[in-house]
Amino acid sequence: MPQSRNRQMTPAPSRALRTKKDMRLSLGAICFLLFVALFIPRTARPQATPVREADAQCAGCHAEIYRKYLTTPMANASGLATDKLKPATFLHGPSGVEYKISTVNGKALLASRSPNGSEGFTLTYFLGSGHLGTTYLYSIGNYLFESPVAWYAASNSYDMKPGLADIAQAPPPLPMQSSCMRCHMSSVRNADPGTINRYEGLPFLHSGITCEACHGDSREHVLTQSKGTIVNPSKLDAGRRDSVCISCHLEGDVSIERAGHNALDYRPGDLISSYVAYYVKSGGDLTARGVSEVEQLSQSTCKRVSGERMSCTSCHDPHYTPDAEHRTAFYRNKCLSCHSQPEFATAHHPENQDCTSCHMPAAGAANILHVAWTDHRILKIPEAPKTEAPRTGERTLVPIFSPGASDRDLGMAYYQSLLEGDRLFESAAWELLKQQQATISNDKDALDALGNLGAERGDSQTAESAFSRVLELDPRDLTALSNLAILRAKEGKLKDAISMLHVAFDDNEDVPGLAMNLARVECMAGDETAARTTLKAALYYSPNLDDMRRMLGQMTACADRGRK
Ligand code: HEC
Ligand code: HEC
Ligand code: HEC
Ligand code: HEC
Ligand code: HEC
Ligand code: HEC
Ligand code: HEC
Repeated sequence: MPQSRNRQMTPAPSRALRTKKDMRLSLGAICFLLFVALFIPRTARPQATPVREADAQCAGCHAEIYRKYLTTPMANASGLATDKLKPATFLHGPSGVEYKISTVNGKALLASRSPNGSEGFTLTYFLGSGHLGTTYLYSIGNYLFESPVAWYAASNSYDMKPGLADIAQAPPPLPMQSSCMRCHMSSVRNADPGTINRYEGLPFLHSGITCEACHGDSREHVLTQSKGTIVNPSKLDAGRRDSVCISCHLEGDVSIERAGHNALDYRPGDLISSYVAYYVKSGGDLTARGVSEVEQLSQSTCKRVSGERMSCTSCHDPHYTPDAEHRTAFYRNKCLSCHSQPEFATAHHPENQDCTSCHMPAAGAANILHVAWTDHRILKIPEAPKTEAPRTGERTLVPIFSPGASDRDLGMAYYQSLLEGDRLFESAAWELLKQQQATISNDKDALDALGNLGAERGDSQTAESAFSRVLELDPRDLTALSNLAILRAKEGKLKDAISMLHVAFDDNEDVPGLAMNLARVECMAGDETAARTTLKAALYYSPNLDDMRRMLGQMTACADRGRK
């Protein structure tokens, strides 16, 4: 679709800032500046265009909508890092890494200094308008990463990304996957085949959420300027209308892509349930879950009684976010458009004009970026905000907003929960996918899952056959290559293992775990030189990673091992 607007797609050489690996700076902030100045890259890479440029052509005829929309959080959901950078330094205690975020010569820079040395990157994009928080992206070559630190509105400061708070060494690089960008950027591409986060050319064409994200392909409309040539969500049936918002505003406890479908292929006018299936843990607490306005609203009396008549746009204007001064009147009018009995406008709590302060109070936990702030259950008697109670012991996932979800999808949802750390779901994932074995023979993702589960359980026969089938379907599949190689290595077939790991590593040099596995097998095969080369290649992407540096230091006596 918006391919038409993309003027520049040629990849350019790396713009990442690197320090020499042995370069150690022992002094304070001034050194940051010094090495930053030394390593400013000279090449400019093509950049994604922001909404204000990407949608400028709509302004000619929809000036008012365009103008209002540009100030919304959605239009500013992402953009150039230089447009939203708060210079600061931040010391992370547990790892001893000090970060400095700054703008130098018009570039946004993230420099870090760890006990192992210093590194620095040019931040390319920000992600998150900042009413909750903002994180940043950077590239090394064609690999795209997320910064380990993010800015949090609640504390008005930088802190580590969730999950890295307690890390005791320089954090590993965080690969930026298309699945993460899909709701925050527009015209997001899949990573290159066989890779997690490598993008030849632009990973997305536009920063922020463009008009086309909700209105679909606009080319014909711009030419003909007529109705019916562009998607107007309000004219779709309820399922397709709601899909437009659901596609980005629902996560459930887990969501998975349906067999043969990629969430990035969703277009306004489609049913999102054809692409994605959503699941929640039974007994789960709606207010404690990420991005859950959709779920909450569906439980409200307003929605249950109104049915299809009500949607997100009953209260929200997707082109306009009222500011603090106007929000009370704005939402009050929306409530009164349905609650039109005169008493609500006059007699019902006239002392407080803000209906939402009682019926849709804000609740939320600090520093959690995907939490619903506003209680969309629209309760009659407001509840005291709940503290998030950890839910344990649930063994069942149930689908929501996912008509047609299959046993395969459920199996994949259990598997996904397992990957996210929920051990309890292992047996359900295994049983469902094992039952499906005959029907998933063309389903790469499900076969990879089955293979992994099999390998974990020591059922190497299931694992082998699943991974082998995946490689017939896609010879570059990373999961199958790396896992089958480990099985082969265990069987003593080191040459096979190395050649598979190499195929995977050549496409994913930035993945430390993969590099270390390959180096380990190369060393087992007696090839110390190859093992060192592998680790050095990977260290280019994470020079200060303790695990890998230590391994390189210990990479001796491979030849002896090889002879055994
Ligand atoms: C050259 C003028 C022109 C341009 C440029 C233009 N539009 Fe329109 N658009 C119109 C007209 C005229 C209508 C019909 C208005 C009416 O009849 O009420 C319309 C209607 C629409 C509708 C409602 C369609 C319906 O069936 O209800 C949407 C949505 C829309 N435009 C979006 C866009 C977007 C997004 C862009 C930019 C990519 C854009 N327009 C660019 C002239 C334009
Ligand atoms: C299914 C769509 C979806 C995906 C996938 C998604 N997000 Fe979000 N994200 C949202 C929505 C919607 C919000 C706004 C939440 C709100 O305002 O309640 C949000 C909010 C955020 C914010 C805070 C922005 C602000 O409002 O200040 C950050 C930062 C963020 N997401 C980062 C990420 C990262 C990093 C990933 C990938 C690991 C990711 N998101 C994946 C939908 C998504
Ligand atoms: C987040 C989703 C979203 C985005 C982004 C979005 N729209 Fe819309 N737009 C909608 C929805 C939903 C409607 C139907 C509103 C309703 O319920 O009447 C709509 C309606 C319209 C209409 C027809 C009704 C009217 O108010 O005139 C036009 C024209 C339009 N949009 C243009 C644009 C343009 C131009 C942009 C980008 C600058 C844009 N939209 C961005 C969701 C979106
Ligand atoms: C392409 C993904 C995407 C789509 C489609 C989308 N949103 Fe959003 N929306 C987001 C993201 C991401 C944010 C958070 C932006 C930020 O703060 O960085 C957001 C924020 C919001 C907000 C909070 C900010 C505000 O404006 O008050 C509302 C409300 C909202 N969206 C409503 C809607 C509605 C209604 C629809 C459907 C018509 C919709 N969105 C469709 C991604 C999307
Ligand atoms: C699309 C129409 C619609 C909108 C918009 C709407 N409501 Fe409702 N609401 C209803 C309907 C229908 C009921 C069922 C009772 C009734 O008929 O009054 C209801 C019920 C309620 C109830 C009673 C809940 C219960 O559990 O008994 C409250 C409180 C409420 N609405 C508040 C609000 C507030 C506050 C807003 C604005 C933020 C709002 N509503 C917006 C349609 C709507
Ligand atoms: C009955 C009215 C109403 C409906 C319907 C509604 N919202 Fe909201 N929403 C609100 C109010 C009020 C706020 C708080 C706005 C503020 O504080 O300025 C809000 C805030 C939000 C936010 C900002 C984050 C947060 O939780 O505060 C997002 C995102 C959002 N809504 C998405 C949606 C989506 C998606 C839908 C459809 C499933 C939806 N809303 C339906 C009234 C509504
Ligand atoms: C100061 C807090 C407060 C404000 C402001 C407020 N309400 Fe209420 N509302 C309540 C309480 C408490 C109840 C339950 C007791 C009752 O019926 O009065 C209630 C009940 C309701 C009901 C259910 C009535 C029924 O008969 O079951 C609706 C609908 C409703 N409110 C809508 C609104 C709307 C619309 C607004 C804004 C115009 C609003 N409320 C403003 C506190 C508030």
